[in-house]
Amino acid sequence: MKTRILLLDDEASLIKWLRYALEQKGYQVFATTDPQDAMVEIKNQRYDLIISDIKMPEIDGFEFLKRVRGVHPDMPFIFITAYGSMDSAISALRDRASDYILKPFSIDELAVRIKANLSSYIKGPTKIIGSSKRMRNTLAMLDKIAATDTTVLLLGESGTGKELFAREIHQRSKRAKANFVTVSCAAMPETLLESELFGYKRGAFTGAATDKDGLFKTADKGTFFLDEIGDASPTIQVKILRLLEEREIVPLGSTRPIKVDVRLIAATNKNLSEELKKGSFREDLYYRLNVIPLVLPPLRERRDDVPLLAEHFLKEICRREKLGERSLRPDSLKVLRKYDWPGNVRELRHVIERAAILSDSHYLGPQHLGLPQSRGKSLNQIQSEEIARVVRECDGNMSEAARILGVSRATLYRRFKSIKRRRK
Ligand SMILES: Nc1ncnc2c1ncn2[C@@H]1O[C@H](COP(=O)(O)OP(=O)(O)OP(=O)(O)O)[C@@H](O)[C@H]1O
Ligand SMILES: [Mg+2]
Repeated sequence: MKTRILLLDDEASLIKWLRYALEQKGYQVFATTDPQDAMVEIKNQRYDLIISDIKMPEIDGFEFLKRVRGVHPDMPFIFITAYGSMDSAISALRDRASDYILKPFSIDELAVRIKANLSSYIKGPTKIIGSSKRMRNTLAMLDKIAATDTTVLLLGESGTGKELFAREIHQRSKRAKANFVTVSCAAMPETLLESELFGYKRGAFTGAATDKDGLFKTADKGTFFLDEIGDASPTIQVKILRLLEEREIVPLGSTRPIKVDVRLIAATNKNLSEELKKGSFREDLYYRLNVIPLVLPPLRERRDDVPLLAEHFLKEICRREKLGERSLRPDSLKVLRKYDWPGNVRELRHVIERAAILSDSHYLGPQHLGLPQSRGKSLNQIQSEEIARVVRECDGNMSEAARILGVSRATLYRRFKSIKRRRK
């Protein structure tokens, strides 16, 4: 089976060239300048990887990525970006693109990236890895939750494993034999989401030629994973509330409710209590969802898991790519441990897999990781810099500096001495 790539760029001449070049490399390519067109393709065909421009009229690359993630949370997605817009490329990675390539690039460079990203696209179940205290507690919770049938609210930053946990809860529950259905509230326009979730009767709106079951119905007896619930519109929120209270849904254009038996797992990386305060999230729905909240800690708060996860991802990629044994040098592990991981486990996985593929050597050194040094500052470092700055501004007057920093003179002396010692 050929690898299928979808290519989106508003520059017709560029995609024509890219398409030709990639086809020469043995890929099957669908190329378009129209994001709507691309979305339809993605929903109806199997694709293995997406390449998209960032700057486009109407829907830009970020918006497109968001929509793709609603249907394929982990499909490899490479941004093409103009030189000089590195910042947007980096924020793209946090927005869950898997990679980016700077213009101008050669087709061989692109081919390397494609290969690296394809291999990181694991299909099938992943084991939950982690042995830090935070993770052990979370896993113990998971076990208890799986044994019950209540609504679960998964909270945590992007890439902390919310979807992984949702699947695991389903797998370990008595509903495991029925469907696990997932939909993201941020992925589609409201009206489309509504008809997808709740279904419709023939004639409910123009284009509704036949009755259609909603996805909640498809998940009957199973588990429904409602992702990015923080983005649900007021209308959707009311309907979900009804589902939770009455255990029934009303398809669009119908007056007759349908009973459904689903367990709801909702997730968001937004701060829901803040959304409550702003009035953009209903309080009654919040309490209904918040029966069992499970908070997945960010990776920087459980650094003990970093080496474990890194080794795990490395082993996995080496086996899959037949790279032989590869290992992380101790100084690499140190760098990994220090880094703050704004993209959490997902980012770690990408970093490791990319390093494994791009390096020719058996031992992966820090230079293969490609982590920006400036983002890896520790709290200690930031504090030291601040202390040094204040002391400098006070012309070395330690009493004055201590007052500004809100610490005792003794503390300041001690810290300042150790900073100077480290600098030597
Ligand atoms: N503890 C873990 N052990 C192994 N793999 C993990 C773990 N946590 C996360 N992952 C992997 O990291 C990636 C991101 O996880 P997941 O998609 O579940 O995150 P998420 O919280 O849903 O993120 P987002 O908010 O961006 O949707 C996945 O490939 C997942 O398999
Ligand atoms: Mg997710």
